[in-house]
Amino acid sequence: MRNPVILALDLPDPGRALAMARAVGPYVGAVKVGKELFVSAGPEIVRTLRGEGVGVFLDLKFHDIPNTVAKAVASATRLGVQMCTLHASGGTAMLRAAVASANETASAAGVPPPLLLAVTVLTSHDDGSLAETGVAATVEAQVEHLARMAVSAGVPGLVCSPLELPRLRGFLPGSVQLVTPGIRTGNEKADDQKRTLSPREAMAAGASWIVVGRPIYAAPDPVAAARGIAMEAMA
Ligand code: C5P
Repeated sequence: MRNPVILALDLPDPGRALAMARAVGPYVGAVKVGKELFVSAGPEIVRTLRGEGVGVFLDLKFHDIPNTVAKAVASATRLGVQMCTLHASGGTAMLRAAVASANETASAAGVPPPLLLAVTVLTSHDDGSLAETGVAATVEAQVEHLARMAVSAGVPGLVCSPLELPRLRGFLPGSVQLVTPGIRTGNEKADDQKRTLSPREAMAAGASWIVVGRPIYAAPDPVAAARGIAMEAMA
């Protein structure tokens, strides 16, 4: 069984991020490189990690005109990333262009295409802030709408909050990969994550992958924490 744990490498210092990825990499399925680290360390950190056999989830949440997103996805595919995110709200044409670009670039380069993951509604939104952007739907309805749209456009996976898992699993095809952050084991200090599930609960609720940051990298022993979380998630 594959290891479903993705370590969120939310460390601003590339040296520390690389050291953490090298130590914990063997005990997780992939590491997530987000905007902060990518903007400071650039694609070189992705190449270094890939060169050392560490899977990379590139979390840059692309949202632009279809042609630009297709080119960004092509670049990510050539970097050899395992997963990459884009905003479902970019629309069907943008999502289709991204899927086509991942497949065409991968086959030209002789590498597997990255698993494209659509982000629906950011969890920082509530109904009021969504209305402010011109979307009259509730957050829940808009998540469902965008999830259906992304999957119809051929996007094979979604990022969702742990509490959205049961509802999404209720109407999406079983083949859709669901990736969820907001994982807590109960051993860590309280932080800004309010709605969380344990690794076991998230997997039971239908997660394909769980994204875990502070419970691993801020633990006294990150390797032990990663091993424990992976064992629980795979049990
Ligand atoms: O440290 P922690 O386990 O909370 O890290 C979770 C990771 O998942 C972070 O990289 C965070 O940005 C990301 N994330 C999240 N909640 C969302 C979307 C992404 O925590 N709704």
